[in-house]
Amino acid sequence: MQSIVILISGGGSNMAALVRAAQQEDWAARYGAAVAAVISNRADAAGLLFAKAQGIATHTISQTDFPDRGQFDAVLAQAIASCAGAGKPPLVLLAGFMRILTPGFVQAHAERLINIHPSLLPAFAGLHTHERALAAGCKFAGATVHRVTEVLDEGAILEQSVVPVLPEDDAHSLSARVLATEHIIYPRAVRRLLAAGLS
Ligand code: GRF
Repeated sequence: MQSIVILISGGGSNMAALVRAAQQEDWAARYGAAVAAVISNRADAAGLLFAKAQGIATHTISQTDFPDRGQFDAVLAQAIASCAGAGKPPLVLLAGFMRILTPGFVQAHAERLINIHPSLLPAFAGLHTHERALAAGCKFAGATVHRVTEVLDEGAILEQSVVPVLPEDDAHSLSARVLATEHIIYPRAVRRLLAAGLS
């Protein structure tokens, strides 16, 4: 079985979209893959409630309990490994996980570490993407699913969505339009990875 571990920090709507796709499309039967756990770096992440309600194992690893990134990431890596069990290395999906990972963590999970970012990368890496797209006068915005490297919001692009920026948009309305497409492209990207077979 290919374990999928999803990391969140907040609402978890992308995580929920992934969980629903796995259930509705029976990724267990089709790809031998299952969402093994949802891990949050915040105890108050609303997405944890959804995951629990779905019967998915949840864990909170609070960064405030650790003196530095390295120690947090080491404990996170242990938790991921124990959730995944003895089988194949897990696919680790960052879904609104608002934390920069150390190079050691990234290298240890290379090729199986995926992120979604709410912009058309390589434009607008980092925070406040929608505000920046509006300020730049962009006519289109979107989201990107990409592999994670040691450089923030860099890495091979797996999927992108494009939406129009409307004259009346503010960051809130643009964010909602982009987020709706994130829920389509993230499951699509994972489906393609699973269909291609991870070893
Ligand atoms: C999404 O826009 C995602 O691309 C970004 O943070 C947001 C998280 O939303 N990294 P959610 O927690 O998945 O609802």
